[in-house]
Amino acid sequence: MRAICRIGDVEPGGVTRVEVDGCPALAVFNIDGTIYVTDDKCTHAQASLSEGSVEGDVVECPFHGGKFHIPTGEPRARPVKKQLRTYEVRIVGGEVMIDDEAGG
Ligand code: FES
Repeated sequence: MRAICRIGDVEPGGVTRVEVDGCPALAVFNIDGTIYVTDDKCTHAQASLSEGSVEGDVVECPFHGGKFHIPTGEPRARPVKKQLRTYEVRIVGGEVMIDDEAGG
C-alpha cells in the first residue's frame, strides 16, 4: 500500500488528479465521503477523467462522453468498451492509501 494524497484533498462529489512515482496518473473520487481511485486516463483515448463530470457514482469522459462506473471501472456508455483500472483503497490516519500491486 502507498499513500497518494490526503482524504481532505477531494471534496465530496469531486475528483482530483494525483501523480505519484511509478504509477500512471490517478483519479481520486469522493462519492458521499467514500474514496475511490481509478486510472486517470480514459480507456478509449487520451482524456483525463479527473476533468470529466461526476454524477453519483458515474464519471463522464470530457472527450467523447463515454461513462464509467467509478467503484468497479465498468464501462457504462459508449464509446468506451474497455474496463477502467480501479485500485483497492484504505484510509489510514487521513491518508488515502492504494494497493497498486493488486488493482484490477
Ligand atoms: S477519450 Fe474518453 S470517451 Fe473517448
